[in-house]
This record gives sequence, structure tokens and C-alpha cells, in this order.
Amino acid sequence: MKADKLLINFSQIFCPVDKGHPLRGEEMSEATIIEDGYIAIKDGKILEVNSGSPREELKGEETEVIDYSGKLATPGLIDCHTHLVYGGSRENEFSKKLNGVPYLDILAEGGGILSTVNATREASFDELYQKSAHLLDEMIIHGVTTVEAKSGYGLDWETEKRQLNVVKELTKDHDIDLVSTFMGAHAIPTEFKGRADEFIDLLIKEMLPKVKEESLAEFCDIFCEKNVFTAEQSYRLLSAAKEMGFKLRIHADEIASIGGSKVAADLHTVSAEHLMVITDEDIDRLSEAKVIGNLLPGTTFSLMEDTYAPAKKMIERGMAITLTTDSNPGSCPTANLQFIMQLGCFQLKLTPIQVFNAVTINAAYSVCRNEKIGSFDTGKQADIAVFDAPNIDFPMYFFATNLVSQVYKNGELVVNERQRV
Ligand code: NIG
Ligand code: FE
Repeated sequence: MKADKLLINFSQIFCPVDKGHPLRGEEMSEATIIEDGYIAIKDGKILEVNSGSPREELKGEETEVIDYSGKLATPGLIDCHTHLVYGGSRENEFSKKLNGVPYLDILAEGGGILSTVNATREASFDELYQKSAHLLDEMIIHGVTTVEAKSGYGLDWETEKRQLNVVKELTKDHDIDLVSTFMGAHAIPTEFKGRADEFIDLLIKEMLPKVKEESLAEFCDIFCEKNVFTAEQSYRLLSAAKEMGFKLRIHADEIASIGGSKVAADLHTVSAEHLMVITDEDIDRLSEAKVIGNLLPGTTFSLMEDTYAPAKKMIERGMAITLTTDSNPGSCPTANLQFIMQLGCFQLKLTPIQVFNAVTINAAYSVCRNEKIGSFDTGKQADIAVFDAPNIDFPMYFFATNLVSQVYKNGELVVNERQRV
């Protein structure tokens, strides 16, 4: 079969191995690394990836051949945990953070997430759409081709719906593929202060059914945290969501360990997020229940804390992990997944192979898109990040600079010379 495009002469091609499940434990150190290779694309899909020069049968008169000598190719990066859609910004909290005021204290004073809730309630659909599209533009030039996006800055139906509709529209309009998550349980809204159980009731009885009815989200998530939602409330919401057919995630063990990981294991959520202060017992629970750990080291960094998720221990005990930005206006204002990957090496002490597996094949499983993305298996979407780097070590070592020079989405060039095409 003739290829539509042949991308040739890569110095390295990173090929994650899709084993039919997320890579766990020692599997996270496995990958096929092709030296001097090519990628053949047909109808927007991967036709073949191999070493050396392309076979003659792949070359037709119409085949476009592009030389990528000296460069690295990986599957398009997947950012599997973001709070993409919000109004305003929170640089006003920056000096408080510098002075050591804890994140949960800022929230308790009505700031933090609640200040973004006010700004989001005031923002129009167009404002939210433009702001989110701009963030996606930043993400794609950093090599990201799929993004999970949560609601949760409305906490009332009108605003939550507006956020989810922004994601729905951007799914159609933007080159990045989006996966939508309903996170109405992101904080206790001021009007429900002291009545968290009643708010959970409202989410279960009114909001979740509407989200389902209007097909506005695939996943449901909750912030299980001290002074936010308890493990019992998280279990109640997530089990109701599961009955309604939602896939599940949970923000657990971010600041205090209050039982979120046990909820994740008991309900077999797809993933558990953060896990900075997870106990050994809970690592074993998640490992046993095959819950993916979505780790967000940019949040620890941005909160100016020292406690990073124990990623190596998680892998040693058989877990599958991903790395993701948490992109949001408070605890991690960034759109740069490459920097998060570098924190994966610098702070979590992961190897470059583990890091690239985390943001490709494992992240594909975390957003339940593994049949289409996350590796270079024949027939998967030709989503490709091309790095101005000769091997996978280089973009981890040369930090805080965008090294992605080209991005292909479904076989089309969407970023060239670090600019949107
Ligand atoms: O994942 N922890 C809760 N939610 C976000 C923070 C959102 C915010 O601060 O606006 C997080 O860190
Ligand atoms: Fe988050």
C-alpha cells in the first residue's frame, strides 16, 4: 500500500508497547526505540513505523516525503487531567503562597477555587471559549494532541453547563481532541456552606442526570479532601455516577490523606489523581484494583511544597502511572506538559522511558482512548510530536524550553517550526 506521507530519517522514534492494558510496574520501563527510522501515514492513520529507509512499495507518485534528520518522534502527548475552562486568573494569591499561606486556608477564606468560581460565573460563553482555545493553542505547540478537560468552576447548573458546552464546541473546532469530565464536586459553593451533603444530593439528583441526558461528559470526578468532600460523600457521588454510566476519577490524597484512594479502589475508578500524600497501604490498594495514578508534579511545584507523589514506589509496587499538568488558574497555572515531564525526572526520579510511557500509552488508557491513540500501532491516529532532539533523554535534560518543532494530528501538520499552521 502507498503512503500519503513518509516522515523519514528520524534519529529516534519512541514506540510505546500497547499490551492491551496500561503499563504497570516494570512494564513502564519497556518500549521499542527505533534508531534511524521512518513513519508512514495513510488516511490520517499510522500505516507503518520501521527502521532504515522506507520500503519501495510505500512510495507512490503522490507520496509526500519529509526529512526529519536528527529529530525524535513520539506519539502525540496526552494531557489527561486539566481544568481547562475558567474565568479570570489568580496571580493575586501568589504573594500569599510565597508567604507560606496554605492552599486550603486560601480556599477556606473564600479565595482559591471559589474566587475562580465567581469569575467563571461572570464570564460569557465566548470569553470562556476564547480563553480555553488559547490554552489549547499553547498546549498543542508543546506537542499535546489530546486533553482531558474538567468542569467545576460553576458549581451551579448554568455555569457548569456553559463550561461543558465550551468543551463540546472546542471538540469540534480545535485540532486537539478533548475528553470531557463533569466535576461539579470541585468545592462546596458558598451558598451551600456547611451543607455539603445537600450539595452532593443536588449533584446526584439534578446535575448528573442532565449531564448524561445532554451527553456533556464521559467522566465524573470529585475533590476528596480535608474541608472539601469527605470519603463518604465521594463514594456516594461516584457510585451514583457509576450507576448512570459515567466513568470515574477522584482527586485523592493531594494535601491530606482522608480515604480517597480507598474509594478509588473500592469503586475501581479509571484513575486517582494527585496522590502526593498516599500511604503504602493505599498504593497497594490502587495497584491491586488496577487504578491508574495520574500524577501532577507541577502542582507540588506551583504550591511551593516539598511532598511529591512517591512515583517510584508506586511503580515498584505494580501501579500504572501517568504525568499530567492539572492546568488550572490556582494550583498549577501552566500549559506546558514538557515541563511536567521534566519534573517527572527531576523530582519524581523517573527515567525518560517511564516519562514518555506515562504521557503516551498510559495517558491514552487514562482517557479511555487507547484503541485510537497513545502508540504507533498500525491503524491508530497519526498523532505525532516531533522534537528538535536526537533522542528521548535530550528533552528531559534540556529543561524549560519547548523542544517540539512539529506536530501532526490525524496525519495533518498542525504545528510547524514551533508555530500553529
Ligand atoms: O487539581 N485540587 C483541586 N483542584 C485543582 C485546583 C484548582 C484550583 O486551584 O483552581 C487541582 O489542584
Ligand atoms: Fe485537578
